[in-house]
Amino acid sequence: MSTATLPSPHAVKRPAVKDQLLFIGGQFVSGSSGKTFPAIDPATGDTLCQVHEADRNDVNRAVRAARQALEAGPWKQMDAADRGRLMFKLADLVERDAEELAALESLNSGKTITDSRGDLQGVVNTLRYYAGWADKIEGRTVPVRGNFLSYTLRQPVGVVGQIIPWNFPLLMLAWKWGPALACGNTVVMKLAEQTPLTGMRVAELARTAGFPDGVINVLNGLGETTGAALVAHPDVDKIAFTGHYETAKIIQKSAADTLKRCTFELGGKSPNVIFADCDLDKAVDGAHHAIYFHGGQCCTAGSRLFVEEKIHKEFVDRLAAKAKTRKVGNPLDGATEQGPQVSQEQMDKILGYVDLGQKQGAKLVTGGRRVGDKGFFVEPTVFDGVRDDMAIARDEIFGPVVSVLPFTGVDEVIGRANNTYYGLAAAVWTKDIDKAHLFAREAKAGTVWVNCYHVVDTTTPFGGFKMSGQGRENGEAALDHYTETKTVTVKLG
Ligand code: NAI
Ligand code: MG
Repeated sequence: MSTATLPSPHAVKRPAVKDQLLFIGGQFVSGSSGKTFPAIDPATGDTLCQVHEADRNDVNRAVRAARQALEAGPWKQMDAADRGRLMFKLADLVERDAEELAALESLNSGKTITDSRGDLQGVVNTLRYYAGWADKIEGRTVPVRGNFLSYTLRQPVGVVGQIIPWNFPLLMLAWKWGPALACGNTVVMKLAEQTPLTGMRVAELARTAGFPDGVINVLNGLGETTGAALVAHPDVDKIAFTGHYETAKIIQKSAADTLKRCTFELGGKSPNVIFADCDLDKAVDGAHHAIYFHGGQCCTAGSRLFVEEKIHKEFVDRLAAKAKTRKVGNPLDGATEQGPQVSQEQMDKILGYVDLGQKQGAKLVTGGRRVGDKGFFVEPTVFDGVRDDMAIARDEIFGPVVSVLPFTGVDEVIGRANNTYYGLAAAVWTKDIDKAHLFAREAKAGTVWVNCYHVVDTTTPFGGFKMSGQGRENGEAALDHYTETKTVTVKLG
């Protein structure tokens, strides 16, 4: 493993980066305070550019622009089908520039260029999927008592504040813009402070596509200032948030003052359950992918790996052997399998958990160290002999660290798998359809995978039970969270 691998034939050129303004009311503008913060290259720790930080004034400006576009502009008058056409146009532009956007995404977030290309395909798919919905969001006629005609209209919630994290910057943008725009809302999005670049490029593409001024506004800034101002703003009707549950608690408390609607997607500590009757080769590959995809910086990461006692030793040996072969390095190199963690803060958090795991008595089988002394790279790590009550088995580490937990029975493992305050995803590997469906029914999680992992499609609802979230993104389910249902009742003669 090395951070200084030579570029492979699939490598992309390092993209040029310029300082970042804010996107408000269809214009790129400076922040009112003149304050900036640096965007960091996680592969080196170097500064990429300066980013204008939106303060309360800028949040006010953006919300005003969004309100105006919602109430008075061409967006309100536009046929639903034409809203869809704008979204298809944006999808085409993203597809046209996908290579450039993927390179920028990898440079700023540290995700491998292969993963960024996958994300870009997801962005295009999501925008097209919701573009198709724009003119298919229908009300109903409802039979009521008496001589009345009652029908429902589904109207936009209004001005929507959207706050996204750094692990899938563009994909999270698309998951949030897609349903919001299809339903006719206007948007003020705050990008994550670690990844302020690509969202602004897509804002530029939205302008090119012809979205009316103010329909889409994009801000950069810190959570505690810019994010908090957006949440507290009395003229924002809804907040959609992805990130840590502790942040969601702060947001929900603040949102209570104006009773705005909130949807949350808040990560997990997802159980990945391997029964002895599985296809072992596929399960080893699946468990590897489940935890190490994007360096474990994934809300659905399979970080609690339950392995049936009978195959426990063989499984851990094979998992560790495969972890050792994972190619960690330059994210812009097409051969790299794992780039850096996004920030010093995240790397330190992960290495802190590796220490804690050892102190609490878990066995470090492989990995556990920083790679190199530049950038934020961490070795793929396997802990064995983990108990359910250890911190590494309970907390979301958000890094390439898996905890192996042996088990013996079906009921036992279902109980232990569910014994967490999270409930985002769960997976089971077995050839026994009874066990598979029993687990799928009993798992307290918004997504269950059988003999696969991390399969997420824009067409299927995605979200969490318990403290993993509220509401669903993707699929038709997301439309409910971006519309208000209005009942109209007409007295008939
Ligand atoms: P975070 O939840 O603090 O940040 C996510 C977004 O929320 C960012 O845009 C941030 O600026 C914003 N934010 C932060 N504080 C805010 C506030 N008071 N009001 C409004 N917006 C606010 O997550 P962070 O600090 O980046 O990562 C910490 C941990 O959170 C990670 O180690 C991981 O465990 C978890 N996480 C989970 C994600 C998921 O996909 N569910 C994504 C990112 C982080
Ligand atoms: Mg935070």
